[in-house]
Amino acid sequence: MDDLPVTKLSWAAFENLDLIEKAACMCDGGREYHVLYAQQFGRERLDHLGRLATAIRRLAKTKDGMYALRNMLPHKRAMLYFAQPSSRTFLSFDAACQILGMPVAEVRDTSVSSEFKGESKEDTVRTFSSYFDLIVMRTQLEGLAERMAWVLSNSERPVPIVNAGSGKDQHPTQALLDVYTLQRSFEDQGGIDGKVIMFVGDLARGRTVRSLAWLLTNYDGVRQVFVAPPELQIGADVQALLDARGVEFRLAEDFDVSLREADAVYMTRIQDEWDSVTGESRRINTGRFHFQPRHLDILKSRAVIMHPFPRRQEIDPVVDSDPRAVYWRQMRNGMWIRAALIADLFGCDAQITSDEQHRGE
Ligand code: NCD
Repeated sequence: MDDLPVTKLSWAAFENLDLIEKAACMCDGGREYHVLYAQQFGRERLDHLGRLATAIRRLAKTKDGMYALRNMLPHKRAMLYFAQPSSRTFLSFDAACQILGMPVAEVRDTSVSSEFKGESKEDTVRTFSSYFDLIVMRTQLEGLAERMAWVLSNSERPVPIVNAGSGKDQHPTQALLDVYTLQRSFEDQGGIDGKVIMFVGDLARGRTVRSLAWLLTNYDGVRQVFVAPPELQIGADVQALLDARGVEFRLAEDFDVSLREADAVYMTRIQDEWDSVTGESRRINTGRFHFQPRHLDILKSRAVIMHPFPRRQEIDPVVDSDPRAVYWRQMRNGMWIRAALIADLFGCDAQITSDEQHRGE
């Protein structure tokens, strides 16, 4: 922890760094500490977490394996601080902690915590760090998780923070489960390298897409296609990051045409909670970006359809029974990869991998 570069910087100095520099500040002598940005994950770590998630998934199938997992972190406690609505992210973190034997507490409604009495977010999070060893936080305020990571790193209880969704900006752990799903889906097709990944929907305000687009830059020859109405197209900042990484990508408006070349289709909902005027995005014609049963005939035979959920009308439920629809499996992968991430943060990854190997023999 003493080596964590963020402890050596004033808030003003840290805040002014670019994203890549900030990401580098979260690494403590080779081990990541806080998890705030997709930019903290390279290929090696993605492979490692994927293998670890699979080891956990296999161990969890038996009672003995589950006991071994429950013995990993009974001495650590987690706080799930979710100030924004959540079902899957919250529950999968909760389940992931349970798998590792880690007791969990939650604050989901700030109107019943002391924040309501005017306490600052800094004091609230420092309070959590007094009682817990890990803080998983979701907030609608961009930059809050990194501010809190800086605050805690410079306090006497520098517990790690995991970003479970920060405003319209980042959702790194969703991107991890998305990559894990892609790794598994393309296991017998040469992996993620060289695949065409198509993103559809509200790409301007969807944080899952912003984080996943970056993680995919770790793979060779991946092409990214962003399909959305112009008002909801992917941000210039993401495009600049992709350009800087030399990644091939294009923006498109024609769903049917783009679909033909896609190996994975990543559907998203319209994020209308961010509308500046109520009903603003309802005026945009988004119906032509919905996945309908007829699209199954166009889609490649070994492609996959993904969605971070919640969904609205983007995917007709009739599509669910097609084997290429992997979104329910994708959701479940969130539990395994989050357990892997927590195990990795607390350094019990090697123990889990060796337990799994011994049991498999
Ligand atoms: C996403 C989110 O919160 O950004 N949900 C999730 O975590 N699975 C996507 C969304 O809300 O549309």
